[in-house]
Amino acid sequence: MDMRIAIIGGGYVGLVSGACFAEFGVSVAVVEADAAKRAMLLEGKIPIYEPGLDRLVAENTAAGRLSFPATLEEGIAQAEAVFIAVGTPTRRGDGHADLTYVFAAVEQVLRALDHPAVIVTKSTVPVGTGRKIAELAQKLRPDLAIEVAANPEFLREGSAITDFMRPDRVVVGAESERAREVLQRLYRPLYLREAPIVFTGLESAELTKYAANGFLAMKITFINEMADLCEKLGADVNDVARGIGLDGRIGRKFLHAGPGFGGSCFPKDTLALMRIAEEAGAPSRLIEAVVAVNDARKEAMAGRVVAACGGSVQGLRIAVLGLAFKPETDDMREAPSLPLIQGLAAAGAQVVAFDPEAMAGARPLLPGGVIFATGVNDALAGADALVLVTEWNEFRALAPVMLRQLMRGSVVVDLRNVFDPQALRDAGFAYHGIGRA
Ligand code: UDX
Repeated sequence: MDMRIAIIGGGYVGLVSGACFAEFGVSVAVVEADAAKRAMLLEGKIPIYEPGLDRLVAENTAAGRLSFPATLEEGIAQAEAVFIAVGTPTRRGDGHADLTYVFAAVEQVLRALDHPAVIVTKSTVPVGTGRKIAELAQKLRPDLAIEVAANPEFLREGSAITDFMRPDRVVVGAESERAREVLQRLYRPLYLREAPIVFTGLESAELTKYAANGFLAMKITFINEMADLCEKLGADVNDVARGIGLDGRIGRKFLHAGPGFGGSCFPKDTLALMRIAEEAGAPSRLIEAVVAVNDARKEAMAGRVVAACGGSVQGLRIAVLGLAFKPETDDMREAPSLPLIQGLAAAGAQVVAFDPEAMAGARPLLPGGVIFATGVNDALAGADALVLVTEWNEFRALAPVMLRQLMRGSVVVDLRNVFDPQALRDAGFAYHGIGRA
């Protein structure tokens, strides 16, 4: 495809989108301002763990479709579209998304452009940001026809490439014929795969991202509350989830009860949506509840383990399996393992932690006394209790006989409902799942 685009920001979103667009045949320049990160990328090293991304980056770099130019000027030269994919962390103090990086990047792009282009926000930005960028473009570059589009991503960590290549839909907020045409051409390969492109106005596209994440976070929080209720009433949340999920109006996905959602998106986006709604004068009581209920849930997990251990974990050796906020990632942001381990350590437990990918990221975030195991067996050796926090496949496969051989005690707290309760009970374990009576 004879098309050039630039992506500002070589982080998670920028790198995945860049590599995938390049795979479509587009010439993509990913502009990474951090010299150390850029040096890594040039050597073909990917700073994040995402299955398949290293191969995709290497192949497209070798094919000359993906580049990591030294300067922004070089990156945006002849680019028909410039994607803004810099970070939008939660602003300290008020829960709003911090747009410092977004506007710094946009301003730099506007000053450097020497041809008409479409500026596209890919980072999740508050509703109204696209409009502000358009105003800024008018002000700074009245000489150029600059269009603005909003194109939120719906990628899940761990399956970001498949999500990009086989999306349920693509959402594009664009208000001019040219902006729509450029984005349509860019996403043409997906169009051929029958992924619908939903064209909307700027505000609708921006809100769609928050609404999608808010709804999914609400779905998880709902099933988590039902799980607590199941425990009180003698019901099984897995059966309830299946029973409601088969109703096409509800859907089976995102109904797995667990220790509360974490990650880089749901916590940040629900908080931001809450603030956006509040300020717009249409507060979302539902999202406010989701945020509060989920925060409280994560904090309550240590107490669950203490209760499972008979009321005290003082001096107990507790193996915590899984630290990342979910499997197939090394991302520790807002991971439920963090408050859990802090709580257990504060209650006097000796925590032995293991995660297949997130050990390095977890180390600086966890209390000093935590022991980092070299593998699953090492973590379980001599443990009084096992707490499964993240459902990596290698943990699912743990057989009760093996647990019996390795562990000293017999408490199993399964915060993801991956083990077979009966098999563990038959092997003499005290099994505690989530929402399983
Ligand atoms: C999410 C959205 O899915 C994605 O569309 C958006 O662009 C970014 O945020 P991600 O954060 O990578 O993606 O992970 P996801 O798989 O959605 O899981 C988020 C959290 O919810 C994890 O902590 C996960 O363990 C939890 N979760 C998910 C549950 O507890 N139960 C579920 O049924 C599903």
